[in-house]
Amino acid sequence: MQALEHSLKDTATRQNDYTVPNFQNPTGVTLSLSRRQELIEIANDYDVIVLEDTPYRHIRFSGDPLPTLKSIDTQWRIIHLGSFFKILVPGLRVGWAVADPDLLEQMGLLKVAADTQTSTQDMAAASLFLERCDLDTHIAGLRLAYRRKEDVMLTAIR
Ligand SMILES: Cc1ncc(COP(=O)(O)O)c(C=O)c1O
Repeated sequence: MQALEHSLKDTATRQNDYTVPNFQNPTGVTLSLSRRQELIEIANDYDVIVLEDTPYRHIRFSGDPLPTLKSIDTQWRIIHLGSFFKILVPGLRVGWAVADPDLLEQMGLLKVAADTQTSTQDMAAASLFLERCDLDTHIAGLRLAYRRKEDVMLTAIR
């Protein structure tokens, strides 16, 4: 947080921030609650937007889940991104964003400029899955499956 604050002090080079706060790849590091709160305060103080990228958030093997940055955002500065790639189908390239409506609109325009839009068929498949299945139950099963894989991998390494 100190390094981040230091980098934001210079208005000429100040930039918005990107973070993977849960199980960052490859270190696996997760931002503690106090650091999350500190990050929100820094974003408010330095008037920057923070992109919270959370594709691994649901695959937690132990301990209690931490609140998303978005849920403790006090000034609509957090853009929260989620993805179905670890919890539904790898490579599906369908996810979600939670942000200030004005920012969402601008993100939509950037998306159109980048690739027109995400595959309609893939979005429909994700939507159908959400309608017909209980996502929390599905994720609980996935956690067990990933956990077993972790055990096998650690045993093989040891
Ligand atoms: C940190 C992070 N964010 C986003 C993505 C991409 O997600 P999606 O497949 O939904 O585009 C990945 C994929 O590997 C990732 O590691």
